Amino acid sequence: MKPPPMLGEAPIAATIISSPTQISNPMKSMDSIVSLCKRRGFLFQSSEIYGGVQGLWDYGPLGVELKRNLKDAWWRDMIAGHNELVSPAGAPSSFEMVGLDCTILMHPQVWKNSGHYDLFHDFMVDCRESKKRYRHDQVRGRFVEYRETKIFVTTLAEIEHEADEVRRRGMKYFKLRPKNADDLTVGDESITLDKLDSHDEVLGPDAKSLGTLTEPREFNLMFKTTLGALGGEEDTTFLRPETAQGIFVNFKNVLDSSRVKLPFGIGQVGKSFRNEITPRNFTFRSREFEQMEIEFFCHPSQSQAWYGYWRDRRLAWYKSLGLSDEALIMREHHTEELAHYSVGTADIEYAFPFLPEGEYGELEGIAHRGDFDLRSHMEGKLDPSTSPMTVELNENGKPKYRGSGKDLSYRDEESNEKFVPHVIEPSAGADRGVLAFLCEAFTEDEAPDEKGKMQTRTVMKLHPRLAPIKAAVFPLVKKDGMPEVAQEIYGSLKEHFNVFYDAKGAVGRRYRRQDEAGTPYCITVDGESLTDKTVTIRDRDTLEQTRVKIDEIVEVVRERVNE
Ligand code: GAP
Repeated sequence: MKPPPMLGEAPIAATIISSPTQISNPMKSMDSIVSLCKRRGFLFQSSEIYGGVQGLWDYGPLGVELKRNLKDAWWRDMIAGHNELVSPAGAPSSFEMVGLDCTILMHPQVWKNSGHYDLFHDFMVDCRESKKRYRHDQVRGRFVEYRETKIFVTTLAEIEHEADEVRRRGMKYFKLRPKNADDLTVGDESITLDKLDSHDEVLGPDAKSLGTLTEPREFNLMFKTTLGALGGEEDTTFLRPETAQGIFVNFKNVLDSSRVKLPFGIGQVGKSFRNEITPRNFTFRSREFEQMEIEFFCHPSQSQAWYGYWRDRRLAWYKSLGLSDEALIMREHHTEELAHYSVGTADIEYAFPFLPEGEYGELEGIAHRGDFDLRSHMEGKLDPSTSPMTVELNENGKPKYRGSGKDLSYRDEESNEKFVPHVIEPSAGADRGVLAFLCEAFTEDEAPDEKGKMQTRTVMKLHPRLAPIKAAVFPLVKKDGMPEVAQEIYGSLKEHFNVFYDAKGAVGRRYRRQDEAGTPYCITVDGESLTDKTVTIRDRDTLEQTRVKIDEIVEVVRERVNE
């Protein structure tokens, strides 16, 4: 039997192999990320064979594992793995955490008292020429000037192409030839439509003439649907636009059935639906998406301290799974953005590559909601502009929307105090989380091929807990008993982790495919394995290879994956 080749990335006898070289300009392009997601089966457009539907996305074989791993990590770290007997670092005290799984369709009164029926709006503009509809704060553009005429040219192009697209549209509008390109001045600043005072000089994203966009109008984002066969107005309800309300309306059920005591949190993971006017930026703004929400109930006097705790804890969670410090910010809402009953709201934001440099997109909001939700479901929708809050009345002086009339207050057994708890709400998006982790993981570096020649390598540096496949098992060649040993190792690992067996093609190419899938470890059975019962385990990020005993491989993978 020939010894295995020792060049480049072939398996080795002891340790260490040439490490990857960072590419000098590590700019992540959204186009490359989207194309990798489709090519490798992370994400597909929904109903693609019929031309797709905007704002709806399907997760492919790798994507579904990644998203499940993210949701499982959240559930384990926030709910199932929470130790209620100790007070975690930074927390005012110990606390309890439980879970729920509520329906997507709920009683229509829920959405009236939550405020979504009246207030869940976005501003949209219509184009009288193209008959298209856009979200007012999402259409970007720049001022363009040609011979004393200044107009505002908009586009929906991705940010990396935005300036070029504005120039192209400006040239077309002024009927300029390429040789006159220097006569056109395009402004340096890209701004959104909502920053303008008038639409008179605006060239809409799909229009040929100026001033075709209407004034902004409100548009409710909830999807309407009908319960039952009769279809009267009273049978109309909505697909939930957030999972939170299922938690509020079950507050009493949870208290009565699980005997939790304040402070405690209820978590839920599930689908939410919003009829976004201009869904865009890949999965960032989708019409169907999943949320991971906690409603944390506490005594009003403690709510500020708990708000601080959850802000810090949630930010640390994203970092623990690999989002970098530089790409994350915590944006505290200004006091004028806050409802008066709230002591604070902060967004955890990420520097998604589709945003201009220095801009960030929301990953998760942490809101102090006071007692607004529980009291609204108890007494009828509260008017958040009143202080102390009172029930909103209709023109006859009656409650605009009737509450449930159920007592959603809490009695402290020790002090006998009865009060409506305050709520801290850390509300995360699973799809936005997946997108942020995909963007963070996407890396292009240079690594040696089997002949030792440096080649550009695309590698998804996903945290091992999130990686769709934890390890891949290869026989170096398809003979000499190597496949049989590799299959046995694969079988023993598969009992514990999602692992992948691959015997096809050159081993270097198999490594590359796993790098793109984000697989942190590749295990290779080579000639030595047959004699000394060891295999190589290759680290995706450092390319380091070490030899480990076959009968220790499950433990080695478990330790490295940290599950
Ligand atoms: N219960 C509070 C609530 O729903 P939100 O800020 O509207 O708050 C929470 O949503 C999170 O849900 C966001 O931070 C985001 O991660 C995710 N999310 C909201 N709308 C989304 C959309 N159209 N597509 C994908 N994720 C979305």
